[in-house]
Amino acid sequence: MGNSSNKKRKVAQKAIEYVKDGMVLGLGSGSTMYWVLEELGQRVQSGLNIQGIPSSVKTQKLAKEFGIPLTDFSHVQELDLAIDGADEIDPEFRLIKGGGGSLLREKIVDVAANKFIVVADDTKLVNQLGSYPLPIEVVRFGWETTKDRVESLGCKALLREENGEPFVTNNHQYILDCHFNQIEKPHTLHNQLKSMVGVIETGLFLDMVDLVIVGREQEVTVLEK
Ligand code: A5P
Repeated sequence: MGNSSNKKRKVAQKAIEYVKDGMVLGLGSGSTMYWVLEELGQRVQSGLNIQGIPSSVKTQKLAKEFGIPLTDFSHVQELDLAIDGADEIDPEFRLIKGGGGSLLREKIVDVAANKFIVVADDTKLVNQLGSYPLPIEVVRFGWETTKDRVESLGCKALLREENGEPFVTNNHQYILDCHFNQIEKPHTLHNQLKSMVGVIETGLFLDMVDLVIVGREQEVTVLEK
């Protein structure tokens, strides 16, 4: 197992300690979550009784493969715990997410949870958000005009592509990756973007996180606010 996978697996094992019998869980997306899902699957096979709501089609598929029972928001509106990855985490526990393109469903799932735990390796910890391009989900129709409005805030916004075609989200929309380099006022930026026609959601996850579990070379650290 590579170094990075090893860190992710250890983080996953720690995160699972917060999962209790009977819980309904929000299941995040990304490569760190892969290990959480794998661990969860093992616990379910050993008798743990939980249900999960997946935050992406990919997570839904993996959860099924690992035998994790799934539910949806037509059955339950409040989750006990959400566990999810992140692309950047600042000292205030503000996040950039959406590297995998699932930011909208992730945000819907993560805000519905009573407790939100972020799982990441130490490369995700930053002093200031923005080196990682901020993903925002935009409506396909007229995305070119939305991009102009977004760029007026002082970034270069690139349409995300996959195999030479625009990347299409699970909600059948597009992603703009916005290169700000430094985001000084995350709340202000989030509000400005959200007020723009054509913008559906931003990858800024603010005032949401309770705990961050960080995988380092030698150890796993739990950060609390
Ligand atoms: C998916 O859209 C993202 O928000 C992921 O949670 C984030 O990119 C972290 O992914 P990794 O665990 O693969 O780094």
